[in-house]
Amino acid sequence: MTEHNNVQTLNQFIIHRQADYPGAKGELSRLLHHIGIASKIVNRAVSKAGLVDVLGKYGAQNVQGEDQQKLDVFADNHFIDALKASGECCAIASEENEDIIIFEDEMSRNGKYVFAMDPLDGSSNIDVNASIGTIFSIYERISPRGKLATIEDFMQEGTKQVAAGYVIYGSSTMLVYTTGKGVNGFTLDPSIGEFCLSHPNIKTPKTGRIYSINEGNYINFPSGVKKYIKYCQEFDKKSNRPYTSRYIGSLVADFHRNLLKGGIFIYPETSTNLNGKLRLMYECNPVAFIAEQAGGMATDGNVRILEIKPDSLHQRVPFYTGSTNMVKKTEEFLHFFNNI
Ligand code: AHG
Ligand code: MN
Ligand code: MN
Repeated sequence: MTEHNNVQTLNQFIIHRQADYPGAKGELSRLLHHIGIASKIVNRAVSKAGLVDVLGKYGAQNVQGEDQQKLDVFADNHFIDALKASGECCAIASEENEDIIIFEDEMSRNGKYVFAMDPLDGSSNIDVNASIGTIFSIYERISPRGKLATIEDFMQEGTKQVAAGYVIYGSSTMLVYTTGKGVNGFTLDPSIGEFCLSHPNIKTPKTGRIYSINEGNYINFPSGVKKYIKYCQEFDKKSNRPYTSRYIGSLVADFHRNLLKGGIFIYPETSTNLNGKLRLMYECNPVAFIAEQAGGMATDGNVRILEIKPDSLHQRVPFYTGSTNMVKKTEEFLHFFNNI
């Protein structure tokens, strides 16, 4: 392996970027730094999960009626602790908690940001050693600093995100994030315990060859989605079809692969789940922000994800994201076949 003499750590990168904003007080930088710390703690637990008592069910259900795994709860607790310690965050919305968590101490009350997260994405993959992740989204609060945060601080369109990202605990651990000026990826170097810039300015291919969808639900898909799947499977030399089907069952892992290689990820509305499965605030919005910043797209089939005004914390939306030409093609199928 070639030695790098000019490795840039996440913290060096954050400080360097902060210098681009005269007048920035470093609040977002401190928040990102603490996200890095929580990710490393979760990564440590994930990487030795089979050896310590963190596999399996926790014994309770979350607000969505899903069985909580021990790692869901572990990750939730550690991210909450790290964000509280940052002093920059006044409240958190999490997949694992029905209501928002409001920090009441004086430092946090003065915090400028609110944080929405899916602390552990891909829970069903934990016990079988497949990739899982953490997804997060950061907004500036609307309520005045110094007061307690309110639910309204979270009910903002995705276009208002000031930063978003995910951590993937995969064959290596990576943190990928955006502050609205492109997407950068950092790989955790376990020998020094630091995230190091490995994927600067990620751009996703305009067209890809991977489609990712849980085809087990085929019978319940809208006609446009059924037709698009058949289109992906058809032979066509010019557009290099048939495409390849890949589906891990962790949004983070499926999206990350498609981001780098080019592809589309679909979790549509179905006849049994009219709004699909994925949650707007802490799954779709952050992923959509990254997709767009990398030159891709994200839509619910009709509306740009980032322009949807949330009406509740755990709201679900249909989700189509990835390479622009593939998402546009899917939209054509949806508009044509869903209306006949
Ligand atoms: P979570 O583990 O946070 O509940 O999220 C699981 C999500 C997402 O990661 C994935 O894309 C999707 O559920 C998979 O759902 P299916 O098993 O229905 O395909
Ligand atoms: Mn999830
Ligand atoms: Mn989760």
